[in-house]
Amino acid sequence: MYITDSIKYIGANDKTIDLFEGQYKVPNGVSYNSYLILDDKIAIMDTVDTRATDEWLANLDRELAGKTPDYLVVSHMEPDHAANIKKAADKYPSMKIVGNAKTFPMMAQFFDLDLSDRKIVVAEGETLSLGKHTLQFFMAPMVHWPEVMVTYEQTEKVLFSADGFGKFGSLDCDEPWDDEARRYFINIVGKYGVQVQALLKKAATLDIAMICPLHGPVLKEDLGHYIGLYDTWSSYRPEEKGVLVAYASIYGNTRKAAELLAEDLKAAGEKNVCVMDLCRCDLAEAIASAFRYDRLALACATYDGGMYLPMEDYLHHLKAKNFQKRKVGLIENGSWGPLAAKKMREVLESMKEITFCDTVVTVRSAVHSDNEAALKALAEELAE
Ligand code: FEO
Repeated sequence: MYITDSIKYIGANDKTIDLFEGQYKVPNGVSYNSYLILDDKIAIMDTVDTRATDEWLANLDRELAGKTPDYLVVSHMEPDHAANIKKAADKYPSMKIVGNAKTFPMMAQFFDLDLSDRKIVVAEGETLSLGKHTLQFFMAPMVHWPEVMVTYEQTEKVLFSADGFGKFGSLDCDEPWDDEARRYFINIVGKYGVQVQALLKKAATLDIAMICPLHGPVLKEDLGHYIGLYDTWSSYRPEEKGVLVAYASIYGNTRKAAELLAEDLKAAGEKNVCVMDLCRCDLAEAIASAFRYDRLALACATYDGGMYLPMEDYLHHLKAKNFQKRKVGLIENGSWGPLAAKKMREVLESMKEITFCDTVVTVRSAVHSDNEAALKALAEELAE
């Protein structure tokens, strides 16, 4: 991948990984991005996961063409980027390692590495000249770990954004940026909206021509689109008007209620209705979709005196990702003691700025005519 004449891509695609972070399905793989800046001094911008070590070292050798790197800049200590720090440090004993005050204690936890005369500790706004290029460092704590920093290269106006503006999917897969970037952001960084907002404020002071993230494509055009989405996601504003109907059904009767609600929503004029089966869909996609739309309807069977567990799991994840500022409608089912709506509401009330529809639909085993009327009423409350 061409970046600029002096900034080279040395990262790798991983198309065989089953679960990123051990939990997220990545049907189109993921990329571990790493960059090399060639100047009077040469800087490596992060390493890659152990799954891509050989390819990364080969790319590094090719672009170095016999030269020796002067610096390794460490933006983030998570092993998908930092796993090869020791290998690179051992291979290039004269190379200095650049990080911040929080980077090196973490590095010592991961690696047995003597860096006493090799580390350069940078602080907010400090610079490092490579010759024509100047690196300026900005701390980005909790985007997505505490030691994260981003680097702005002043001459070519490139922001090396760490996990920020990253996306699932290998670099050669043909898919829209927004969907897999949303699934990545909400699930991995979603909890840290305040910290992302702080980073966006810093970024707003910079003249950025290009964003080089640690995952996904380098962004060279229409940067306002990507920055705008990050502003929306990190401030927990809905991305678009629409209703996600998410259901957890044991035998199909709760599903039937959810599907009827979806039909009623459409009949009430709602154009954007998305229905997801929490027992079978990708949970990370369902979480991202809840953040995407401005309204959420939940339909859940009662199970062991509480929520059917796929719904409990879903709400647990939504809370962990700081879900907030949405209107919610509830449907419950129960053959003897329907309690799912009460239990769902208890969890949702622990989140910020959740408003509830007045209508709560209670299905007793199977959908009957009185439920149909209640579902229509709920749809009318939810529809805009
Ligand atoms: Fe891609 Fe937080 O590491």
